[in-house]
Amino acid sequence: MSYIDIRNIYKIFGPNPQKALTLAQKGENKNDILTQTGHTVGLSNVSLSIEQGETFVVMGLSGSGKSTLIRHLNRLIDPTAGEILFGGENILNMTTARLNAFRRAKLGMVFQRFGLLPHCTVLDNVAYGLKIQKTDRQKRQDAARKWIERVGLAGYEDSFPDELSGGMQQRVGLARALTTNPEVLLMDEAFSALDPLIRSDMQDELMKLQSELHKTIVFITHDLDEALKLGDRIAILKDGAMIQVGRPEEIVMKPADDYVRAFTRDINRSRVLRAKTLMMPIDDNTQQAGSGDWPEIAADMRLEDILPIAIACPAGINVVNHKQQRIGTLSKDQVIAALAA
Ligand SMILES: Nc1ncnc2c1ncn2[C@@H]1O[C@H](COP(=O)(O)OP(=O)(O)O)[C@@H](O)[C@H]1O
Ligand SMILES: [Mg+2]
Repeated sequence: MSYIDIRNIYKIFGPNPQKALTLAQKGENKNDILTQTGHTVGLSNVSLSIEQGETFVVMGLSGSGKSTLIRHLNRLIDPTAGEILFGGENILNMTTARLNAFRRAKLGMVFQRFGLLPHCTVLDNVAYGLKIQKTDRQKRQDAARKWIERVGLAGYEDSFPDELSGGMQQRVGLARALTTNPEVLLMDEAFSALDPLIRSDMQDELMKLQSELHKTIVFITHDLDEALKLGDRIAILKDGAMIQVGRPEEIVMKPADDYVRAFTRDINRSRVLRAKTLMMPIDDNTQQAGSGDWPEIAADMRLEDILPIAIACPAGINVVNHKQQRIGTLSKDQVIAALAA
């Protein structure tokens, strides 16, 4: 069992969802169901397993059901059918008291609109979650100061949200979510409103934090570049249905259909493809393959970083694993072929 298990979720919006649900369960599409019943399919037969410590990205066009899906995880929305399990516990069976405790203890949320309290300082905003948990003042302020520093905002503790730029406000949002030490971060288009450079900084910041914290992150975006950069795995939604789930390289190399292909067409492949995928593997019996004179690169190096090495060393490159063992080779021609594909 995974840490989070979403099993055959359907969400129908409208007053009498049963007929639309039956049609969705028969596999009818969102448009036909709307025409026949006047009900909107938010999600249709979505199943997902999310592992502890992974950054799981949900991607899709506007209206594809991303927010509907993430709102099921904190039960802002209940499904019309299906189950949602956290660590084996069905959250749909929780009492209100249990649900509130679960949300407070396990979940941190970061939204696109930063949702900060305008009349509270940065310090009070970040400490807010602990205040709700009735942590005493000194403790919660200490924790808040720690996280404010961690997200690069030391010195702004006494500022008010409207004195900060969008990027800084989103850092406050992130610090606020982290201060209660949740196991899971739910981030719905958290960076989508930011300017491109600020957005890229925030992505880097999140990746740096995640490499230290190992939270389970469910990150929603409509931007494939962002999905590929952040996601250990990516799920792609279309009209409420799950079209594909896979590692970034799988999405780019083997798009499941034209919808996914349309997303992947314009992305920078060299940022996604890694040495491990491109190399000619060395099997265990022929460790002598490759040459001692060739440079060595890490298996997870990205194509964009491999390219200059391949050009400088056209004879070949050795690919090594984290134990510095040679596991494959790459030639300049292979590298260029991968770029052109
Ligand atoms: N409260 C609601 N009432 C009726 N329809 C809704 C509601 N929330 C979302 N929808 C519909 O469900 C679909 C998915 O919406 P949403 O999850 O917000 O998409 P996304 O976040 O991917 O843009 C859309 O067709 C939307 O119009
Ligand atoms: Mg949304």
